[in-house]
Amino acid sequence: MLCPRVVAYRDVTREVASAMSKLASTLAGVLAEALLGHKNAPGVERERFPEGCDETTCFLRLNRYPPCPLLPDTFGLVPHTDSDFLTVLCQDQVGGLQLMKDSRWLAVKPIPGALIVNIGDLFQAWSNNRYKSVEHKVMTNATTERYSVAYFLCPSYDSPIGTCREPTPYMPFTFGEYRRKVQEDVKRTGKKVGLPSFLV
Ligand code: OGA
Ligand code: NI
Repeated sequence: MLCPRVVAYRDVTREVASAMSKLASTLAGVLAEALLGHKNAPGVERERFPEGCDETTCFLRLNRYPPCPLLPDTFGLVPHTDSDFLTVLCQDQVGGLQLMKDSRWLAVKPIPGALIVNIGDLFQAWSNNRYKSVEHKVMTNATTERYSVAYFLCPSYDSPIGTCREPTPYMPFTFGEYRRKVQEDVKRTGKKVGLPSFLV
């Protein structure tokens, strides 16, 4: 039998994942439609976007950043872009998230009750770079631990990512091919290369 705290944890996690899933799908749909134009416009097919995403392919990540009095990036998150369509992030009040804007790191200040939404690599590819996958990182706090919850809107590995409109600067790829290439590049170069590896 599961102890009540584990059951409560499971139930809350499910509830959060389900709410974030609805939000992520709605936002992705609205952002896609903004690029496609009206759904009934001639020559424009408004498929259910993004295709191939469901509760078995998306995931929730619970992050805990222990306090670190030494170097703030020791136990943080290294600079990266997310390899998904879109990320919904809930951070606590400690702060430490930074994003790259105009070649500078910008602190994303916690706002009570606010969620953060990041465009991921797949949306950048699908949108022909109209939407940008934002580079971000986390610096740890010297004295206070930090928690965040991130929901990643990902398709199944065999899903083609496609494009909102031809011509596209990227060669065709599935999510599985993208993940494999990212891992290969990290092994080979020590860094994620991401979308530039898929330019035509
Ligand atoms: C991530 C991420 C940011 C945060 O999990 O990919 O960027 O604030 N998290 O924890
Ligand atoms: Ni991230």
